[in-house]
Amino acid sequence: MTRVLVLQGPNLNLLGSREPEIYGRETLDEIHAGIAGRATELGLEVAFFQSNHEGALIDRLQLRDFDVAVVNAAGLTHTSVALRDALLAVKRPFVEVHLSDPSTREPFRQVNFLHDIALRTIVGLGAHGYHVALEEIHARFGGRT
Ligand code: DQA
Repeated sequence: MTRVLVLQGPNLNLLGSREPEIYGRETLDEIHAGIAGRATELGLEVAFFQSNHEGALIDRLQLRDFDVAVVNAAGLTHTSVALRDALLAVKRPFVEVHLSDPSTREPFRQVNFLHDIALRTIVGLGAHGYHVALEEIHARFGGRT
């Protein structure tokens, strides 16, 4: 079974109450429950990790206990050479997801350290973007084997 790691960056633990007009009213746990359900339907194994700490996200990637990742690096998307380096170092493909569309927001969000190394970048679909990411992974790598 394809093992998928869903990696969630800083402040995404506050979803539900954090700027709901931008990010919606669903909590991270609710979003993860939805992802887990879709993963089951597609025959994908899924694990979740959220941290507010860059190093903790990098340490999690370095475990290399997954085949492909879904990454919402949140604010680190626009700042982190180290997270980019980690994604390249562990040699695991990943789909980048953002709830909002950073390209239509403040200028500093136009900088993206991950986009060019992602299999695909999905933006602006809210929590549904994670489901689209799983479907992309299923199409590319399959589910149950
Ligand atoms: C985000 C977009 C980022 O610019 C922002 O820093 C976030 C969330 C999104 O999912 O839309 O924290 O990654």
